[in-house]
Amino acid sequence: MLIKTQRDGFHHDRPSEITPAGVYLQRRAVMQHLATGVAGAALASWASRQARAQTARPGKLAPLPGARSAVAGASTMEKWTEYKDASTYNNYYEFGTDKADPAKNAHTLKTSPWTVEVEGLVKKPAKYAIENLLKLSAQEERVYRMRCVEGWSMVIPWVGYSLAELIRKVEPLGSAKYVEFLTLADPKTMPFVGSRILEWPYAEGLRLDEAMHPLTLLSFGMYGEVLPNQNGAPVRLVVPWKYGFKNAKSIVKIRFTEKQPATAWNVAAANEYGFYSNVNPNVDHPRWSQATERRIGEDGLLSKRRKTLMFNGYEAQVGQLYAGMDLKKFY
Ligand code: MTE
Repeated sequence: MLIKTQRDGFHHDRPSEITPAGVYLQRRAVMQHLATGVAGAALASWASRQARAQTARPGKLAPLPGARSAVAGASTMEKWTEYKDASTYNNYYEFGTDKADPAKNAHTLKTSPWTVEVEGLVKKPAKYAIENLLKLSAQEERVYRMRCVEGWSMVIPWVGYSLAELIRKVEPLGSAKYVEFLTLADPKTMPFVGSRILEWPYAEGLRLDEAMHPLTLLSFGMYGEVLPNQNGAPVRLVVPWKYGFKNAKSIVKIRFTEKQPATAWNVAAANEYGFYSNVNPNVDHPRWSQATERRIGEDGLLSKRRKTLMFNGYEAQVGQLYAGMDLKKFY
């Protein structure tokens, strides 16, 4: 059964029909520990406490459940970042440059009605009302690491489906080599649009094969609920092997092109932010190292920085996309 929520006009399943996807993951972890015989009752109860903590929905927004994803590498077993951190420590420059600004200011973003236009080098250009885009494919939950270029990281359970599902529907032409993502730039509701920090609208891009990779997620929700505005409602990109800024929020246009599209951060500072922006501990940002990261929620005097992994830990899945490329040149 479908009900209409007051907040945004999305249609959702009844809360009673929600599949708590995180439960599967944590149950599997318990079973694996028990099966290896190393875990005693203490570990089992720790894991079930973890499972309870991780599956409780924040209860703030409309539910958006997702079935556990079968895509290889789509669900890290690492501890999830707390919802309160993931939704209050944000980059969304249309609403301010301080990490706390988006959560304070993004309530003005109007996410309904919302249309996403798909155009450019495709056989079947289309305009999707957000409700239809949401229902284009089954929603999956994927627990991705996200590594920001600024040196911090989070682990977030996103809800959405592979962007490839949408791309297949619109049938790219042979000449399409890249996909450009353009986001909302509305000076009436976004106080910092028009400021000179970036060019607006915020733009991002992927090579077509990157966009088609099953890990590339078109995301509508997180933690079992629709996205909070500050995290990019009603629809955003999540590309887990790239630095966080590739993950365009509040997308209104997806365009297929032959030429590599301009991207907001590359236009702002080309020597600091390349088109590829793959997480790469061996290529420093000109002003700081990318070798380690601070996991949000692990702050404390004794907490150590973690070593950053090549392609953010997704090398087995995506490494072949860059075979033969000089990743120092194509940063
Ligand atoms: N999308 C838009 N439209 N505007 C932005 O300023 N910031 C990017 C990206 N997407 C940004 C954006 C950056 S720098 C990061 S690190 C991620 O969003 C942050 O996503 P999060 O706040 O959900 O963690």
